Amino acid sequence: MKWTFPVVFISCLPILSISLSAGPSLKTSDTEKRIDELLSKMNLDEKVGQLVQYNYQDSEKYKALIREGKIGSFLNVPPDAATANSIQKIAVEESRLGIPLIYGYDVIHGQKTIFPIPLAESSSWDPVLAERNARVAAREAAACGVRWTFAPMMDIARDPRWGRIAEGAGEDPCLGAAFARARVAGFQGNDLSNPESVAACAKHYAAYGAAEGGRDYNTVDVSEKTLREVYLPPFKAAVDAGAATLMSAFNEIGGMPASANPLTLTRILRQEWGFEGFVVSDWNSVGELISHGVAASPGEAGILALSAGVDMDMEGNIYQGQLARLVREGKLSEKLVDQAVRRILRVKFRLGLFEKPYTDTNLAKSILSKEHMAQALDAARKSIVLLKNDKKLLPLNKGMKSIAVVGPLADSRKDVLGSWSGRGSEENAVSVLEGIREKIVQSVKILYSRGCDVTGSSREGFKDAVKLAAQADAVVAVLGESADMSGEAESRSDLGLPGVQEDLLKELVKIGKPVILVLMNGRPLAFSWAAEQVPAIVESWQLGVQHGRAVADVLFGDWNPAGKLTVSFPRVTGQVPIYYNHKNTGRPSQDNVKWTSKYIDCPSTPLYPFGYGLSYATFKYQDLKIGPETIAPYGTVKVSAVVSNLGNRAGDEIVQLYIRDLAASMTRPVKELKGFKRIPLGPGESKTVEFVLGSDELGLYNPRMEWVVEPGDFQVWVGPSSAEGLAGQFRVVE
Ligand code: NOJ
Repeated sequence: MKWTFPVVFISCLPILSISLSAGPSLKTSDTEKRIDELLSKMNLDEKVGQLVQYNYQDSEKYKALIREGKIGSFLNVPPDAATANSIQKIAVEESRLGIPLIYGYDVIHGQKTIFPIPLAESSSWDPVLAERNARVAAREAAACGVRWTFAPMMDIARDPRWGRIAEGAGEDPCLGAAFARARVAGFQGNDLSNPESVAACAKHYAAYGAAEGGRDYNTVDVSEKTLREVYLPPFKAAVDAGAATLMSAFNEIGGMPASANPLTLTRILRQEWGFEGFVVSDWNSVGELISHGVAASPGEAGILALSAGVDMDMEGNIYQGQLARLVREGKLSEKLVDQAVRRILRVKFRLGLFEKPYTDTNLAKSILSKEHMAQALDAARKSIVLLKNDKKLLPLNKGMKSIAVVGPLADSRKDVLGSWSGRGSEENAVSVLEGIREKIVQSVKILYSRGCDVTGSSREGFKDAVKLAAQADAVVAVLGESADMSGEAESRSDLGLPGVQEDLLKELVKIGKPVILVLMNGRPLAFSWAAEQVPAIVESWQLGVQHGRAVADVLFGDWNPAGKLTVSFPRVTGQVPIYYNHKNTGRPSQDNVKWTSKYIDCPSTPLYPFGYGLSYATFKYQDLKIGPETIAPYGTVKVSAVVSNLGNRAGDEIVQLYIRDLAASMTRPVKELKGFKRIPLGPGESKTVEFVLGSDELGLYNPRMEWVVEPGDFQVWVGPSSAEGLAGQFRVVE
């Protein structure tokens, strides 16, 4: 065995500081002076105008409003610099004060070069990769005139029925914070005024992912402790990284809608975190305060939202219609309006929009460039998770005679793009079938049959699929969800393979040929039968434009998969919400033991746990070291382990560190991720991976909502997933 000794020094926090230790402050004395000057010249209508965002429509009505200074922002402007510039020209050259517009757009995982959906990208456990992807997305968006993305989405999601789980980084706050920070850094770069930077928008603030029953827009009721420990860490990380804006969510939190919530929007965001940017509402979430039942009229909705800290009203028409009147009637202080205007102007100044309001058309050269497509391929490969590989069925031998590629998603270019695919287009995407065809140019015969539709009950195509599969040496079945089955308003009550796809899979398995299941989906699915009966399973998610090439690379061994799940996969839908960092309860589950917290018809463990994923290499963990074994409450402890690649091919391993605070003043999760690192290991190579745990990792919110490290014993694990690892202990003593 070859030994090398680079000590990899990591814990959650250093990982969170990829390129910026803390984001640059948005406030500078120069900017504040310029805002003061401008504000002093603005009349009330112009001030309110800055707080208004509309969905762009090419209409004379909007053009007139821009001229009057009554619109500060648009979303969904057509994606070309010329159109963006022509609208901007009206604001800059024809309005009284010439204040530039800011354009926002949902650049969630790419503008034209589409990257893996964020849930897939997080399976890479590689925040540096996420930062690079976001940088590419920013460059292309900016080239289209967009200087503000409604991303990253950082909602912790523990219920895969919720379609928006596709847009975030999964179920864990530590990993979520790392990706939040990376994505903000990528979008904004080190300088917001760089014409290739876009302002980030951390969304959806807050706890939108905790919707009851996984039903989109549904009620959220979490304690302040859970809010702070589970749902807020990614937002805090984003704010620390300098995120210029946040979006207030649709949901309520314990009786108070997020878009009128003084606790989250003022006390935590402004007073505790010192956020200096602005908050935009989600689409009409100010108007929806009436449906929530906390406002009786549009005027009341406006007062509630603005007073709580929502600075810009997205497409709600509440601020435009109500605020000036309310100020004139003495029902709303103009100071509140000024405060919101100041925050918005601050971001416009920092983006350099006053100096350079127009997009340089030369920037378009970068769109879909060779470099961007190469980055997309790297991202796609690194996001794939190998779930099962019995008898080393994969990688496939390029020398076989024929292969059958079957399934409704096998030749889909549309679905590889996933939800929220920006301005991406099918013509630039590669399906799995195309990726395989491109790779296997010579001898292998490739047979293709669709078999069935993604949804629906028709089995008409089964016969053809089975016939082809019977002629082949191996069968690749590409099954799952279409792109439009996840994302906003796409909650599902059943997490099984939709339609008759599982029946098709059963027919294929019956033939007796080796079957490889390639899953394409925007959320965890429940596929217990397949997990038992199909020898190899590849979770490919929706990987963007390079989907097909990345999958073909994994199937034929040109890429060694290393991705790991960032969300637990349930055995059956009835198990959700199921997540690794749950509480122990007073009666921890024990299968087949009555009076314990469990289901009588299903094991308590997930089908595949958080952090799980296989490789074509075999890794071994040994030599766990913890030192010192006793620390003071605000001291640090080092934990290390040696990870070795026992195989004869190189691979990456994602090393994970978990802790458990065994007894505290309030209950703690049974495991909490506190550090991780993706490390490359050559054949026979070993590396020592070291983590440092301090108060940021060991603390908790006490009943007074103070972050404290309490004395007591801590369990620690270093391993390949949340379900395995070398275990040890240390003690915090006063
Ligand atoms: C509603 C979605 O919830 C949000 O994520 C998105 O940014 C806005 N619509 C704008 O498209």
